[in-house]
Amino acid sequence: MTNTLKAPDPKPESPKTAASPLLRFYRSSMGKKLITGFTGLALVTFALAHMVGNLLLFVGRDAYNAYALLVSNFGVVYYAFEVALTAVVLLHAWVGVEIFWRKRQARLQGYSTYQSAGGSSYQTLSSRTMIITGSVLAVFWVTHLMTFRYGTHYTTELGGDTVRDLARLVIETFQSLPYVVGYTVVLGLLASHLRHGFWSALQSIGLLNREIRPLAYGTSAVVGVGIAAGFLLLPWAIYLGWVS
Ligand code: HEM
Repeated sequence: MTNTLKAPDPKPESPKTAASPLLRFYRSSMGKKLITGFTGLALVTFALAHMVGNLLLFVGRDAYNAYALLVSNFGVVYYAFEVALTAVVLLHAWVGVEIFWRKRQARLQGYSTYQSAGGSSYQTLSSRTMIITGSVLAVFWVTHLMTFRYGTHYTTELGGDTVRDLARLVIETFQSLPYVVGYTVVLGLLASHLRHGFWSALQSIGLLNREIRPLAYGTSAVVGVGIAAGFLLLPWAIYLGWVS
């Protein structure tokens, strides 16, 4: 009888060497900055489009409901868009929290500055509170969907068809002062988040240099305040009785 000695299994590769290029990219500071940068710009684009779409209620209830109907008529493409949007929000938030923890740990370990892959940092109240404003916006995101996307399903007649009456839901919601005040606070935080986030995203994806950076700071403030103010027009106009 022969005894065969089995060779020991080869040592598993350390997680670092075994990691796929995608995982290595995700783990790197540069990768994290690029992920938050591109997902952030995608969310700004969505916010801008959503804000302009909301302004259709100034044209009339039918225009607003027709727009909502048009969007939902995209069927499977619309659902795919919703899934993609949710994934982008989750990725943006997750990586944003990771960057925050890395910076915090670097500070606790005694490094006075965190080596940001995006270049030199520009500290403002907006930049220092990104984790707070971002967290509030994440909670807002969920409550907002509960209020409108999954809120009361009123119906109305439009061109001979029965369609969802989103205009009625929006108008009823913003006839209530607590909602208007709550949205005003949240949109103030959105303005602050975008004020830092917009230029920071441009910086992270390598679109800024020393010459145009000051222009980007100004543009970022205009984008943040502009989008928030555009969103706020409707709740206040409804509350004041200008849209009914
Ligand atoms: C006064 C301001 C706003 C109003 C009147 C408003 C109104 C609405 C309405 C009516 C819907 C439902 C659309 C549908 O079911 O077809 C909706 C969905 C949504 N809103 Fe807003 N919104 C406002 C601000 C915001 C802000 C500030 C954000 C975030 C930046 C936001 C993010 C979303 C998202 C992610 C959806 C779901 C989109 C989808 O799944 O189709 N909204 N909003």
